[in-house]
Amino acid sequence: MITLALSKGRIFEDTLPLLKAAGIEVLDDPEKSRKLILATNLPDVRVLVVRATDVPTYVQYGGADMGITGKDTLLEHGSQGLYQPLDLQIAKCRISVAARADFDYANAVRQGARLKIATKYVAISREFFANKGVHVDLIKLYGSMEIAPLVGMADAIVDLVSTGNTLRANHLVEVEQIMEISSRLIVNQAALKLKREPIRKIIDAFACALAVPA
Ligand code: PRP
Repeated sequence: MITLALSKGRIFEDTLPLLKAAGIEVLDDPEKSRKLILATNLPDVRVLVVRATDVPTYVQYGGADMGITGKDTLLEHGSQGLYQPLDLQIAKCRISVAARADFDYANAVRQGARLKIATKYVAISREFFANKGVHVDLIKLYGSMEIAPLVGMADAIVDLVSTGNTLRANHLVEVEQIMEISSRLIVNQAALKLKREPIRKIIDAFACALAVPA
């Protein structure tokens, strides 16, 4: 049995064509079904529907053999025990710093300064500002980070930006880009040894599908 961990939403939808290229079709729609373990057309392949932040955990501990997760989630989790054979180039976005338009970010990030940042990306933020020599007080949030600068709880946020609509709707501006993000295929290193052939087949089919121009 090969078990693949996926999260609902964009990653799931963008993954379906890749699975199809590997001859795998998921039999239930996770948006409609309450089932968390989904069967596929192949009796020896199944899909786990887990929280996006839990995908690396399932794969690391062998609850799933493989998974698809954003680079952001992977950097926060750490990649211990995980083999990362492919950048799938899906669910593309970026991680950026955003602040209120009236906040003087350029002045606030000078070396030796101190900045209050609200984010769920504490590891990424810590490293980014440490490299600049800027001290940061990190406030961990789990969502709706845009509110924090608006109510004076933080000077800025570090969050995913895709279209920029969420920032605009909340009167925030993107003041600095930290990195480009896309989704990666991750594989449990022990599973890769034990189930080498079926896992390799899926990796190769994904790689092949990516090489075909859209
Ligand atoms: C992300 C992110 C922003 C939004 C950015 O949230 O946290 O709020 O998308 O996208 P945009 O630039 O296209 O507006 P997501 O919808 O993934 O949910 P989350 O709050 O659970 O992270």
